[in-house]
Amino acid sequence: MSDTPIATAFTELVGVRTPIVQTGMGWVAGPRLVSAAANAGALGILASATMTPEQLRSAVREVRSRSGAPFGVNLRADASDAGERVRIILDEGVKVASFALAPRPELIARLKDAGVVVIPSVGARRHAEKVAAWGADAVLVQGGEGGGHTGSVATTVLLPQVVDAVDIPVIAAGGFRDGRGLVAALAYGAAGVAMGTRFLLTSDSTVPDAVKARYLAAGVQDVTVTTKVDGLPHRMLRTDLVDALERSGRTASLLRALRHASAFKRDSGMSWAAVIRDGLAMKHGRELTWSQVLLAANTPMLLKAAMVDGRTDLGVMAGGQVAGLIDDLPSCAELVERIMAEAHATLGRLPTVV
Ligand SMILES: Cc1cc2nc3c(=O)[nH]c(=O)nc-3n(C[C@H](O)[C@H](O)[C@H](O)COP(=O)(O)O)c2cc1C
Repeated sequence: MSDTPIATAFTELVGVRTPIVQTGMGWVAGPRLVSAAANAGALGILASATMTPEQLRSAVREVRSRSGAPFGVNLRADASDAGERVRIILDEGVKVASFALAPRPELIARLKDAGVVVIPSVGARRHAEKVAAWGADAVLVQGGEGGGHTGSVATTVLLPQVVDAVDIPVIAAGGFRDGRGLVAALAYGAAGVAMGTRFLLTSDSTVPDAVKARYLAAGVQDVTVTTKVDGLPHRMLRTDLVDALERSGRTASLLRALRHASAFKRDSGMSWAAVIRDGLAMKHGRELTWSQVLLAANTPMLLKAAMVDGRTDLGVMAGGQVAGLIDDLPSCAELVERIMAEAHATLGRLPTVV
């Protein structure tokens, strides 16, 4: 029966109706998408890395005014103002803190003491083991097919590896879009699925139509991984910009990086010191050139050019391989209902053991 809930350790932990997460995506996961996902029974997660702290506070309040369901906030643990963002999460009584990079044990403890559920995102087994040992309540594991910053190990290999390694609920991400995927993830031992690209491609997402059209038109081979944007493997649609970045030399990269960094500084109100501090935090422990550090600091502007301004020519369109399989724009309510119905149908079709 498609209306029978599928209860898992994740739905119990967070108090949502379905084992589905709409992930925090910069410039995409704003109050409208998050409240629509939450009202549909999924865990909606606000992306805060591309908001100022004041914008984050008002976005949290807007979600709350549109939905009574639990939701989360995604933040970068290495951001210079992470403490201020955590303060907002605590002040505003947000249910879930999601982290793009592993948060420190003290930060996890501070959130947990206040009753916030802590769910870091990881792309490798050893990171999952580390955050589990530090007290994370659950872990979101993203396989290489996933959109945005991503690893190289496919979900089908990484997910069972992480499930076997930790005792906390594991949420599977990277390549999911339907009920078959949800059942497959549960069969691997996950407690739910998290989807980015699929929620970006809904009628509730505020991404401009021209940009959504590019994703809908894309085939699996049109989604690529490049390190040329910010030095880290980043999955996105292959465009002329991506091809140009792949070809360009060091000087051209540095000039482009400086141009974008100053635009980001202007729009975000950040000081150069803060831009450099965030860039250095990213550089720490990695082999990045200065142009990559600057590009890293302004990657949000490249994403904004597409996701907010609709510039398919200038912007970065982050997305997973699954974009190649998606060809419609349902509402979040239609999507979640469809996934649950497909999951039940899939479970009903599984061979019975005699
Ligand atoms: C446009 C876009 C922006 C993203 N921004 C973030 C982000 O700010 N923080 C984060 O933790 N993950 C981010 N991600 C990764 C997603 O949260 C998610 O883990 C990923 O999309 C899952 O793979 P899928 O696209 O195959 O569903 C982003 C992904 C996309 C497509």
